[in-house]
Amino acid sequence: MAVDLLLGLQWGDEGKGKIVDVFTSKYDIIARFQGGPNAGHTLVFNGRKHVLHTIPSGIFHDNTINLVGNGVVIDPVIFKKELDKLDEQNVDYKKSLYISRKAHIILPTHRLLDAASEASKGKAKIGSTLKGIGPTYMDKTGRNGIRVGDIELSNWKKKYRALADKHEAMIDFYDVDIQYDLEDLETDFFEGINTLKTLKFIDSEEYIHQAQTAGQSILAEGAQGSLLDIDFGTYPFVTSSNTTAAGACTGLGVAPSKIGDVFGIFKAYTTRVGSGPFPTELFDEAGETMGRVGHEFGATTGRPRRCGWLDLVALRYACQVNGVTQLIMMKGDVLSGFDTLKVCTAYNYKGETINHLPYNIEAENVSPIYTDIKGWSEDLTAMTEASQLPKEFNDYVEFLENELSIPITIVSVGPDRKQTIVRKEL
Ligand code: GDP
Ligand code: IMO
Ligand code: MG
Repeated sequence: MAVDLLLGLQWGDEGKGKIVDVFTSKYDIIARFQGGPNAGHTLVFNGRKHVLHTIPSGIFHDNTINLVGNGVVIDPVIFKKELDKLDEQNVDYKKSLYISRKAHIILPTHRLLDAASEASKGKAKIGSTLKGIGPTYMDKTGRNGIRVGDIELSNWKKKYRALADKHEAMIDFYDVDIQYDLEDLETDFFEGINTLKTLKFIDSEEYIHQAQTAGQSILAEGAQGSLLDIDFGTYPFVTSSNTTAAGACTGLGVAPSKIGDVFGIFKAYTTRVGSGPFPTELFDEAGETMGRVGHEFGATTGRPRRCGWLDLVALRYACQVNGVTQLIMMKGDVLSGFDTLKVCTAYNYKGETINHLPYNIEAENVSPIYTDIKGWSEDLTAMTEASQLPKEFNDYVEFLENELSIPITIVSVGPDRKQTIVRKEL
């Protein structure tokens, strides 16, 4: 059976966790394929909020396998904290959570290197979540990394020490003031490793292959968003993995010919956390309202998210790079009460009108060209059927569908599982 993908199309935090949770009952396996604890995926059900960082968002459903794929980077300390939270809620994950032996491990010194690198950049910093993501992927591509499979081997601590020593020398090289007590950090790290070892490690590409052959359904859960992709995002203000559809192939070992639906998730407006260009960013009351009503604070770092109007130039680009087959629009409820909504349909790029995302989208090169659309005043959060949605809301959605030529099959009108409306059954 083909593997379906669910991906964020903007700068992350589109609401991927919520929709994966909603979709899980339709799948046998939910698999994360890239990123790590830089992600914060929020699920809300039965009046409770849950935030997952590395663990796939299908974990709260019985009878679903949750796989952390080879493309993911795992911090054993954060992973243990996530498991502790699941234990508190009596979630039985021991039989349903599998880890790829080929996933890489984030060492305490990777986190320190992330902090040193950011500190050395000063104002030009990426705005990293400081979870050690960049340095861990650097060691992966540099062929120095430590993988989950290594910790099953007897000599792995020797390898660990050598790498940690090298990292300490690199931290000194940055010549910035980073205070740390490595022994302390290592106590937590090795405790995390011991917890990790209680889980099931697998050769995940073989597992996925067998599952597909047996006709099992698989949903790959993306982290971050397309505009944070290492190749196609707003480089260098990106993360260090391929967040786009191709990342699911390399991050799980799925052949391109075996990809089925690609669900693209976007917010009805745009947010970004961290540094980097953002053409439709707002610095006025409208942006402040989006942040306040949408509770736009990072699920991992708590930092306020920058807010702005929907950018169709960027969204079209993301749909193209990912081959999106169905769109899911989140947080439409947050826009209730705006008299007029603006949607960026083109850019003014050095005096010329363009419809594609150019190499450089810094403010000095690009200014958004907006189309005004009439807003709606109704509160959407209690609505459960497409027939209840106001005309102006439907007009907004139809405008986007026409611009993107992809159906918007689901709209989300609140954080809860239940606040999810199917517009179209395909
Ligand atoms: P993810 O990283 O893509 O999983 O998204 P996050 O969890 O980081 O951020 C999405 C935030 O929006 C979370 O706080 C969700 O609970 C919330 N959320 C998701 N869908 C909706 C929605 O339709 N309306 C509102 N108001 N909040 C939503
Ligand atoms: P989810 O999966 C939003 C951003 C950081 C920073 C840049 C690089 O919850 O959507 P990194 O820690 O990866 O080196 O940071 O990427 N970033 C995210 N922004 N949502 C995320 O994940 C993000 N993961 C990383 O803010 O700008
Ligand atoms: Mg998030």
